[in-house]
Amino acid sequence: MYLRNAWYVACWAHELGDALETRTICELPILLYRKTDGEAVAIGDLCPHRFAPLHMGRREGDNVRCMYHGMLFGESGKCVENPHHGGVISPKMCVPKYPVVEKYGLIWVWTGDAEADESQIPDFGCYSASGFKTIHGMMDVQANYQLITDNLLDLTHADFLHDGTLSSEAITTSKLETLEQGSTVYANRWCPDGDPPPVWGQLMESQMGMKPDQRIDHWLYMRWDAPAHLLLDVGISPVGKPREDGAWVYTGHHLTPVSPTRTLYYWTVVRNHGVDDPDVEKFWQMSIEYAFGVQDKPMIEAQQAAIGTCDIDELGPVAIPADLAGGKARRKLMQLIKGEERGERPRPGASPLDELLARSAKSAAPVLPVV
Ligand code: FES
Ligand SMILES: [Fe+2]
Repeated sequence: MYLRNAWYVACWAHELGDALETRTICELPILLYRKTDGEAVAIGDLCPHRFAPLHMGRREGDNVRCMYHGMLFGESGKCVENPHHGGVISPKMCVPKYPVVEKYGLIWVWTGDAEADESQIPDFGCYSASGFKTIHGMMDVQANYQLITDNLLDLTHADFLHDGTLSSEAITTSKLETLEQGSTVYANRWCPDGDPPPVWGQLMESQMGMKPDQRIDHWLYMRWDAPAHLLLDVGISPVGKPREDGAWVYTGHHLTPVSPTRTLYYWTVVRNHGVDDPDVEKFWQMSIEYAFGVQDKPMIEAQQAAIGTCDIDELGPVAIPADLAGGKARRKLMQLIKGEERGERPRPGASPLDELLARSAKSAAPVLPVV
């Protein structure tokens, strides 16, 4: 089951050019390309005649010709030229047209029937925040997107699965603070006055002028928006000092379901330190690829293989308090999907990033109510 009236990330904006690109989003085959004026277009990728993929066709101006029997489709998805049958074009000769927005360096596609609502794209303005530098990547994960959401909303796995990189006993013993606001779920962990996780510890001398054995405040504030867009505000600062005095990072996580057991995982790391330093860039690229690709991915894929196509909640999993935020996100998403089936219109837009930051402007400590 998928939330249809929602935005999903199809690709990075810089990846999309004149060439025909294909993506499967929530099992929908989608063709993407840029028109000659640069505007991004998304239409169905299967020709309505014999279902040949249109991405195997060719561009003719802003149109796409199916290279099996030659029907020509416009950016609206409608057939504009039929080389057969005296050129007769029937209303059924069309493919779906999907609304597209280019924002935050990403191409967002709306897969539902309701009118596309751009305000539903959560605020990822931090990707271009002044004084910060962004790197990004993508992973193809053979698992359901909600298993990845669970992983991101329960960061206690860092102490075990990310041993030697992001591990911190303080995360496991910290208090989880959650807040549900509209269709947004927050999951905060505040770990004051502790030892730095190994990856962060490596930055202390070079980026913060601190000794590597000094104690630090560590914060991990995760925001989830339906269907699966997450932003982690994370970092370390000298004890009692605000984010700006420390190594501060946002990590973005956009999970695009391909099928019930496959997800394209688009990630970003946005840092406030070493912004012009290629070694710091490489450090983060390698750290994230290792943490996500070598540590998280095999575990999540093994989980998926173990449960097959069952919904994990139907298997009666043992629950621990750390599951709270993941459970809230799953319930919220299910409510939205059920609401959509009843014909309810899309929910209000996601909470702006400014609001999140204003709450803890003076120190790195969170101010969400403790649950
Ligand atoms: S399959 Fe496309 S024109 Fe026949
Ligand atoms: Fe992880």
